[in-house]
This record gives sequence, structure tokens and C-alpha cells, in this order.
Amino acid sequence: MGKIFIDACFGKETPYTPVWMMRQAGRYLPEYMEIRKKVGNFLDMTKNPEIAAEITLQPVRRLDVDAAILFSDILNLPMEMGLPLRFEKGVGPIFDKTISNENDIVSLDENAYEKISYVYEAIKLIKKDLPKEKALIGFSGSPWTVSTYMVEGRGSKQYAKIKKMVYTQPKLLHKLLEKVTNQTTKYLLKQIESGADAVMVFDSWGGALERDKFFEFSWNYMREIARSIKQKHSDVPVILFSKGVGLYMDGMDGEFDVVGVDWNTPMEYALNIFKDNYTLQGNMEPTRLYSKDATKEAVIQIAETMKGHRHIFNLGHGILPDVPVENAKYFVDLCKEITRR
Ligand code: CP3
Repeated sequence: MGKIFIDACFGKETPYTPVWMMRQAGRYLPEYMEIRKKVGNFLDMTKNPEIAAEITLQPVRRLDVDAAILFSDILNLPMEMGLPLRFEKGVGPIFDKTISNENDIVSLDENAYEKISYVYEAIKLIKKDLPKEKALIGFSGSPWTVSTYMVEGRGSKQYAKIKKMVYTQPKLLHKLLEKVTNQTTKYLLKQIESGADAVMVFDSWGGALERDKFFEFSWNYMREIARSIKQKHSDVPVILFSKGVGLYMDGMDGEFDVVGVDWNTPMEYALNIFKDNYTLQGNMEPTRLYSKDATKEAVIQIAETMKGHRHIFNLGHGILPDVPVENAKYFVDLCKEITRR
């Protein structure tokens, strides 16, 4: 039997619409919290291949999702490029050292993609235990989203520092984006060579940019990464996901297979733009998972809209930490049941 998730990425017929959830390996799972309590530190969990592999497999066992996503973070790569990373309770990720000038960019390590070997080890371990009909998704952040953290030092509401660069030092910012793109491409290629069945690029902060700037500073780099991967591995699906840019979708094209649709963008709207040229992945509002009724309502509606079209079920952003596991299971089961052909 082939992998349903991979078939759906390429628009082939599948027995039902495959489903997984962004952030499916995480805090809503008691078995995740148990390991986290033992290890104590999120980053140490990502750096230990045995632990990362175990956490990756937890949602597959618990929920029977059609794809596993590597347990890691988009900020491990910039960390390996030379910016020490820490996570603070109530704040999130913090880089104490940030990028503000040419020298900072020059000193970034160009062998980061090799130093991050714990990820490749984790992938090999995951593939040993992952059932053959399930796919493993590798991932990275988009160069723009990763760079926002490298420049701002932490999550930001205004993106004042990096957006100041957009308008006052665009060449400097392009230099940074090129370097991150180069590392990201090599990183994803090595994930594929280690066994990842598909790769996804997360552009969580694409929506911080106005239209032309989004294409210039974010989308073009994602597109370039996708093209490099497809040139070497035409059989490996590439998923691109930008958050908050539904209105720019008509400008998104390139050599990739799947578009992630966030929950602000009606699926019907995305379908109208992309037709069946790409598979659409998404897009239930994650907060609906607090209510089975609200979940059912959305699953029915999305399934109806996407009936007969290229689709992978997912949330429109990451699952929240205190969602009842039972409701997550309900979502996954319902998506499959309702779309069974
Ligand atoms: O989807 C998955 O299950 C795979 C693993 C994964 C994580 N982060 C694990 C994680 C993936 C794909 C990410 C991506 C990521 N990380 C993004 C892009 C996607 C998105 O959600 O928009 C971003 C912006 C980050 C940066 C990051 N990492 C933040 C802002 C935080 C803190 C958020 C919070 O809720 O506290 C993290 C930590 C993080 N990454 C956790 C997990 C499971 C929580 C760690 C913990 O507290 O145990």
C-alpha cells in the first residue's frame, strides 16, 4: 500500500482525505508532558534524537493521523548558525544576540546544516518505527520568518526592527535572507536524504508584510527553496504555508505541490484561486477543537467545499496546548469518516 498522504499531495485518488494537525506533537498530549517534565527543557528534547523520535510518533499512535511531523523547531537552524537560543516561560523563544549589520551576517556559520545532525538521526529513528502507510514530514521555517526572530530577537507584534530593514536597508536584509535560504535548502535536502517523505516550509509571519514586500522578501525565497528541492527530488512533495496572506494567494505560483491555507482564508476562496493545480491543506480554526459541535460543523463544511478536489485536512494553524486529547481524536476520526469514498 502506498502512503495516502503522499498520494493526496500529488492529487492522486485516495480512499479518504488524509489528515494531520500542525503542532500535533506537543503540550496537549499527557505523554509529551511526561517527557518534558523528565527532560526539563524543550530545546534539549529537540537535540536528543531518541526523545525527538519518540515525541514525533506519539500523535501517530494516539490519533492515527496520516502523517507524522518531525519534532523540532524552526529556530534550531538559526541557533546552529551561531545565535544562542533559549525559551522563556510566558515569552517564548529568545535570541540574546541578534542580527543588525553586515558583520553579524558574515559571521553566521555556513555549516549549520551539518551541525544539526541530531535532526537527521531523529529522522532515521522515526522511519524505523513509523508504519509504512504513514508519511514523515520534515520542515523548516521560511527565511523571512526565521529572519524576523534573528533580527528582532524574539516574537514581535510590530516587527519594527526587521521592517525598518525592509525599507531602509533592503540589500542588507536580502543578504541575510540569501544566507538563511542557502542553509535552509541544504537542511531540507538532508532531511529528505535521511528519510523525510515530504517537507513543509512554515512562514508564520508572512502576513506582517504588504503585498509587494511579501513577494520580494518572503515568497520568492520560499519558491526558490521549493524549486531546488523539486529539481533533485521530484517525488518528494513540497508544502508551502504562509500565514495571514490569503489576499496575496493569486500571486503565489511555482514548483511545489501543496499550499497550506490558514484559518482566516475561506477554503472556497483558496480553491477559486488555485483550482486543482495544487493540493490545499487546511484549514479548521484551531480553537474549534474545544467543542465537538464546533469541530463537526467546520469539518462538514470544509469537506463539502473540497469534495472532488485536491485536499489534505489540517487545522488553519497550530493546535492549542490545553485542547482535550479526546477532541483532537474526534477531529481526526471525523475527517476520515466523512470523506471515505
Ligand atoms: O507541528 C509539530 O508538531 C512539529 C514541531 C514544531 C514545533 N514548532 C514544536 C514546538 C513545528 C513545526 C514548529 C514550528 C514553529 N516554531 C513555528 C512555525 C509554525 C507556527 O506555529 O506558526 C514558529 C513560529 C516557531 C517558534 C516557536 N517555537 C514559538 C513561538 C514557540 C513558543 C510557543 C508557545 O506556545 O509557547 C515554540 C516552542 C515549541 N515549538 C513548542 C513545540 C511543541 C512548545 C514547547 C513546549 O513548551 O513544550
